Amino acid sequence: MQIRDFKPKNQFFLAPMEAVNCTSFRILCLRRGAGLVYTDLIDADEFTQFAKETSVLDAIKKFVNPNSEDQPLAIQLAGAKIENLVFAIKELENYCEVFDFNVGCPLGKVLGKKAGCYLMKHPDNLYKIISEIRKTTNKPLSVKLRSGWDEKSINAVEVAVELEKLGVDTIILHARTKEQGYQKKSDWNLVKKLKSIVKIPVILSGDVFNSYDAKIAFEKTGCDAIIIGRGAKVNPSIFSQLKSFQKASKKDKVYCKNEVNPVKDFLEWLKLYRKIERRNNFSEIKDHALWTSTECKNNKEVKQSIVNSKGEEELIKIVKELKF
Ligand SMILES: Cc1cc2nc3c(=O)[nH]c(=O)nc-3n(C[C@H](O)[C@H](O)[C@H](O)COP(=O)(O)O)c2cc1C
Repeated sequence: MQIRDFKPKNQFFLAPMEAVNCTSFRILCLRRGAGLVYTDLIDADEFTQFAKETSVLDAIKKFVNPNSEDQPLAIQLAGAKIENLVFAIKELENYCEVFDFNVGCPLGKVLGKKAGCYLMKHPDNLYKIISEIRKTTNKPLSVKLRSGWDEKSINAVEVAVELEKLGVDTIILHARTKEQGYQKKSDWNLVKKLKSIVKIPVILSGDVFNSYDAKIAFEKTGCDAIIIGRGAKVNPSIFSQLKSFQKASKKDKVYCKNEVNPVKDFLEWLKLYRKIERRNNFSEIKDHALWTSTECKNNKEVKQSIVNSKGEEELIKIVKELKF
């Protein structure tokens, strides 16, 4: 698996996730074995405006918060204003191995700017943007697509074919439409079809939660890599488990392996958070504790006690007592 001149050390990457992928979480996933980690969506307009109001360095700190351990890093951009995308790319080029362009975001704040999944509906706009991005940077470039806008207009394969012609180096396909949200399973048959048509690597996104899912995803689709979102959110150690995916069997559930220790993951993340992030946001820390507790015993009661906790000391005590 190679994306232009970038060779990841394995085929399992951390997917972009807004409000999850802070630098400290990305570093934790890299420590657990992720081959590449993605930032969450960076709005090129917001980045540009902030850089102009403060300074480029302040914008880079706010939106990426670079750290020497946070490599290899892919920076995901979204937007429709070419001048702002070009500005962001030029300023961020030295901070990542790969750029990704988001064509999947379903949120109103992004669609309203004619960006994200809006571009699946208006692919000519997308092609103009990608041509300009390609002229701006020689960095490896991935584009993250959805299947299409809705089930009547599934066009990911046609769009990907055009993107390949424009010099995009890899396609990430989250094979659900914007209208589907997370209903139904993602359509791995579409990933298989895409893989059979384009020559550039194809990265599968959607519904890989353990080693067995990964094994089946590779077998069924022939994809070149897998990018993991929700599975990593609740279990960053999924990347350690995935090392032995070829031997996985149906019995391999999320927490059944020795190398998985959600409590240790949370405490290590918290230590990184305190050292690296430029904020102390208790509700953000609580969110990570809630995700950590996803598969624990007495899940409902535990979640409530995490929500009710008043301070970090109390929260840490609850997490340390989690039983899986
Ligand atoms: C909390 C959350 C935030 C997300 N934020 C982004 C984002 O910023 N950019 C993006 O391209 N996809 C985003 N996604 C979609 C994921 O990258 C991924 O495509 C999707 O969740 C399917 O993969 P999974 O089944 O492994 O979670 C987000 C998903 C979640 C759960």
